[in-house]
Amino acid sequence: MAIKRIPEFRIGAHSHIKGLGLDEKGKAMFIGDGMVGQEEAREAAGLIVRLIKSGKLAGRAILLVGPPGVGKTAIAIAISKELGPDVPFVALSGSSVYSAEVKKTEVLMRAFRKAIGVRFRERRRVLEGEVVEFEPHFVTDPWNPYRRRVKSAKLTLRTKSERVTFKVAPEVAEEMLARGVTPGMVVMIDKETGRVAVLGISEEASAEYKYDIGRVQTVPVPSGPVEKEREFTYVLTLDDLDIMFHRQKTGGGLLSLLFGGVEERKEIDETTRAEVDQFVKKNVEEGKAEIIPGVLFIDDCHTLDIECWSFISRALESELAPIVIFATNRGLTRIPGTNEVSPFGIPLDLLDRMLILPCYPYDQNEIREIIKIRAKTENIPLSDDALEELVKIGHEHGLRYAVMLMAPAYEHAKLNGHDKVTKEDVEFVKKRFISIDEGVKYLREYETKLLR
Ligand SMILES: Nc1ncnc2c1ncn2[C@@H]1O[C@H](COP(=O)(O)OP(=O)(O)OP(=O)(O)O)[C@@H](O)[C@H]1O
Ligand SMILES: [Mg+2]
Repeated sequence: MAIKRIPEFRIGAHSHIKGLGLDEKGKAMFIGDGMVGQEEAREAAGLIVRLIKSGKLAGRAILLVGPPGVGKTAIAIAISKELGPDVPFVALSGSSVYSAEVKKTEVLMRAFRKAIGVRFRERRRVLEGEVVEFEPHFVTDPWNPYRRRVKSAKLTLRTKSERVTFKVAPEVAEEMLARGVTPGMVVMIDKETGRVAVLGISEEASAEYKYDIGRVQTVPVPSGPVEKEREFTYVLTLDDLDIMFHRQKTGGGLLSLLFGGVEERKEIDETTRAEVDQFVKKNVEEGKAEIIPGVLFIDDCHTLDIECWSFISRALESELAPIVIFATNRGLTRIPGTNEVSPFGIPLDLLDRMLILPCYPYDQNEIREIIKIRAKTENIPLSDDALEELVKIGHEHGLRYAVMLMAPAYEHAKLNGHDKVTKEDVEFVKKRFISIDEGVKYLREYETKLLR
């Protein structure tokens, strides 16, 4: 029997968002980086990005509020795009802290630690150059006559100004063989550990490596001496370090690497975390590392209960805290786990310390532009009157609903041989899939007939 195939791709609801769309003075363009309107919130978000980048907001909290579909999640995504690749950005939906296997505070703790990066700087002595000659010497393995072992190798490296020949230890030679090192390749060898990295094929030798299929990166022949000191930087998060330290202790070794290391379900103990913090502190004090506070984004934060909130308050006070951005569409509501009603469902003492960023419903012009962008991203051709119908629906029932109707409307169009979505296609699906406000009306009408 044929197995049903699930399409390989899904178009993310926010895939059109590339940034905040601000000019060099931080002013929002009406349309920019896939964002439309909501200018004030975007400009405020731009200031937050600046503060984050200069490390001035660690341990602070920001709250995005507004009705459903006004772009709160979109703005958070745009912030992450603006921050660049080195600043950690962790997104989490409030409800994902509730799992059967892991304590909710552990889920939060890991998210907090994933949101803090540590940039390590290391100076190492390396040998770098184009391989001119690589000659391994083999001997027969005394324990297994069918196997040949590398005893050593002769390696000649050249730069633009120098050519040096080395005798290479067996392990390094094995590694070079395993990586398929041949003359013409530019390699870098860590002098202390013997780790080999292939940087590419030298520009001069690249003519011999022309393939129809296959990617070969060409690099210039290095200049300067073969042996030099190089600075390496890499960013790890506190969570990465927790896992590394944990693995060392439990001796998980290769097996744990194969099976993905620490499973999300397992908990990392307090002592390991304290050791990691000590290790980071020491490296920072010695000038070998630098802390990069990242962003933890908690969407739909009204689902967090009072225990989560008290954990968050404490975590924000700690020395190594990220910037936390919350978003919610709730007004005055009960804090889960209590009988207390509070603005946005957030305990007042925490709310008091948050920078609150409001988002407002869109006008028709903004809705039109957002729908146009979404149609382009999802490859859905819309006729002019279908677009206007969607704008009207978005205005009356929310942008999210209008955007969600586009895909089924296109299916209906295709079934009926239209090459573009027509107004009728939109009306057809509008009748068959209802919006939340219509859902509420429906409930009121049939309340007594539904099971309770
Ligand atoms: N200003 C905008 N520019 C471009 N696209 C937007 C904008 N605002 C919202 N969108 C898009 O509209 C859809 C709904 O927005 P989003 O999910 O961000 O709303 P939200 O405020 O987070 O709503 P909720 O409270 O329901 O979570 C998404 O596909 C989003 O990418
Ligand atoms: Mg949202």
